[in-house]
Amino acid sequence: MSQAITFSEYGTPEVLRLSEVTPPEPGPGQVRIRVRAASVNPFDLKIRSGLMADAVPVRFPVVPGLDASGVVDAVGEGADAAVGDEVLGATVGGGYGEYALLERPVARPAALSWEVAASLVTVGATAFRVLGLLDLRAGDTLLVHGAGGSVGTVAVQLALARGVTVVGTAGAHDLERLTALGAVAVGYGEGWARRVRTAAPQGVDRVLDAAGAGVLADSVALTGDRAHVLTIADLSAARHGVRFSAGSTGDGAEDFLPQVVRAAAEGGLTLPVWRTYPLDGAATAHADLEARRNRGKAVLLP
Ligand SMILES: NC(=O)c1ccc[n+]([C@@H]2O[C@H](COP(=O)([O-])OP(=O)(O)OC[C@H]3O[C@@H](n4cnc5c(N)ncnc54)[C@H](OP(=O)(O)O)[C@@H]3O)[C@@H](O)[C@H]2O)c1
Repeated sequence: MSQAITFSEYGTPEVLRLSEVTPPEPGPGQVRIRVRAASVNPFDLKIRSGLMADAVPVRFPVVPGLDASGVVDAVGEGADAAVGDEVLGATVGGGYGEYALLERPVARPAALSWEVAASLVTVGATAFRVLGLLDLRAGDTLLVHGAGGSVGTVAVQLALARGVTVVGTAGAHDLERLTALGAVAVGYGEGWARRVRTAAPQGVDRVLDAAGAGVLADSVALTGDRAHVLTIADLSAARHGVRFSAGSTGDGAEDFLPQVVRAAAEGGLTLPVWRTYPLDGAATAHADLEARRNRGKAVLLP
């Protein structure tokens, strides 16, 4: 038996329990890892609370967690890794545990800590995917809402590397960090559209909403074209005629992950890790994210 965090009903962070579970067996193409780090994503909170109950039905008990890094300890038929390999990847059946299954493991470069390796998976692949969907060209101006957050931070760096001018909205605590990355940083909240117009007199060509804070109508007005606005976080997208991009198995994320890992290992991408927790600190981690105390990734170290 091994330990994992599970929940058997929707609710507040307290529904997360440290439980004894049978370690999962890897199927064809999968590996099992002894987890060294499992990142906490806002998606995990939305699943746990029941917010996504209709869109993403679950079968209880659920082991949360999309991303993990660790050492391969069992290999399914045809899997592209060997016992003892240090890897990271998207989990199958949850990452908040001593053991997790990965579908397409990517080798962990020595330059990446276990924490950063786990943190990059969903965040990095999402940023790569959405920038592709926005069809950006060098010289364009991109506005990123939630640029101080994890997906936003990676998207900002990737867009800048492509020769795009980036304007990012963020909280006061993140403005300096964004400016240091090379973005034009603008405070979020009341009056943001006016501040963006002042900061980008050339106009805004594309908008990525990685905050989901009710910014779509003004974003459409800024670009003058609904097709030039994309959200990953605002479920009212359809009402505004705006694209919502959801990550899902088979969406090509596996193709992006090796690129994300390479960029991070070569120093071209930074992703702040805010705090680490033991496995039984999962409920505290969820509470921290829910209260927006985090300033970077929260990571469990089982
Ligand atoms: N659809 C997909 O494929 C997909 C994939 C990954 C993530 N997501 C979603 O994308 C969102 C961001 O994920 P994440 O991992 O980057 O989360 P995160 O690290 O918590 O970042 C969210 C950021 O949004 C900022 N924010 C809050 N209100 C804002 C506003 N009014 N204007 C601009 N920024 C604001 C937060 O600032 P504070 O520091 O002030 O709180 C924080 O920096 C989440 O909703 C997540 O579920 C979707």
